[in-house]
Amino acid sequence: MARTALVTGGSRGIGAAISQTLKAQGYAVAATYAGNDEAAAKFSEETGIKTYKWNVGDYEDSKAGIARVEADLGPIDVVVANAGITRDAPFHKMTPEQWHDVVNTNLTGVFNTIHPIWPGMRERKFGRVIVISSINGQKGQFGQVNYAATKAGDLGIVKSLAQEGARFNITANAICPGYIGTDMVMAVPEKVRESIIAQIPVGRLGEPEEIARCVAFLAADDAGFITGSTLTANGGQFFV
Ligand code: CAA
Repeated sequence: MARTALVTGGSRGIGAAISQTLKAQGYAVAATYAGNDEAAAKFSEETGIKTYKWNVGDYEDSKAGIARVEADLGPIDVVVANAGITRDAPFHKMTPEQWHDVVNTNLTGVFNTIHPIWPGMRERKFGRVIVISSINGQKGQFGQVNYAATKAGDLGIVKSLAQEGARFNITANAICPGYIGTDMVMAVPEKVRESIIAQIPVGRLGEPEEIARCVAFLAADDAGFITGSTLTANGGQFFV
C-alpha cells in the first residue's frame, strides 16, 4: 500500500522538489502552502499533487489541516517539516517582529506540524519525521540570529523525538541544506550571494532535487536504523 507523505511549504522551492520526488516514488503526497493560491493551483495542475492552505504557525489551523489531509489521503506516514521563512537583519537592527515571525513559522511551526501527527504514528508503529534545518543552524550566519536559532532548534527537536519515537518504529532526522538555488536564496543581495558562492567548494548553489533525494533516503521503509541524525548537503561549505 502506498505510504502517505505531508510536505509543509511543499509547493515551492525545496518543498516542491520534495513533493515531486516522493510522488515519483509512489507516495500519496499532500503539499501545504501559506498564501500564494495562484502558485499552489499551478503546482497542483502541473504535478497532480494536492495542495492544502494553512498557517503552520497556528496550532489549531495545522491540526484542522492535517485532519483534512488524513480524511483525503489516509494516515500520514511521512512528515516533512519544510516550511520556513527568513527575515534577515543584523542583530542591532532586528526587530522583535522579525524575531517572532521567524520563530513562529520555523520553530513553533515544526511543533505544530509534527504534534498532531505523532499519536497516530505511535499507534500504527511506523513513522518518518524529517525536518529541513539549515547549514546556518549549524554554523550561524551574519544577519540571521533569528533564523539560525530556529534551525539549531530543529536539531534539538529531532534528537529528542528520535529517542521518544524509537520504541514505535518512528525515526526523526534533520537535513541541513546549504545554499540552494531557490527564491529564498535569490532574495539575498547579489553581492552577498556571490561572496557566499565563493565559499562553496563545489562552486555553485545546490539544486532543490539534491535535497529531495536526501528526504527520499530518510523516508524509506528500510531507513529504520537512521534516527536522530543530521544529514548535511551543502557542497562542502561546512563540516560539523
Ligand atoms: N560578515 C561580516 N560583515 C558583514 C557580513 C558578513 N557576512 N555581511 C555584511 N557585513 C557588514 C557589511 O559589510 C557592513 O559593513 P560596513 O558598515 O562597514 O559597510 C555591515 O556588516 C552592515 O551591513 P549593512 O548595513 O549593509 O546591513 P543591512 O542592514 O543591509 O543587512 C544583511 C545586511 C541583510 C544581513 C545582508 O548582509 C544579508 O542579506 N546577508 C545574507 C544573510 C544570509 O546569508 N541569508 C541567507 C538567506 S537564504 C537561507 O537562509 C537559506 C539557508 O538555509 C541557507
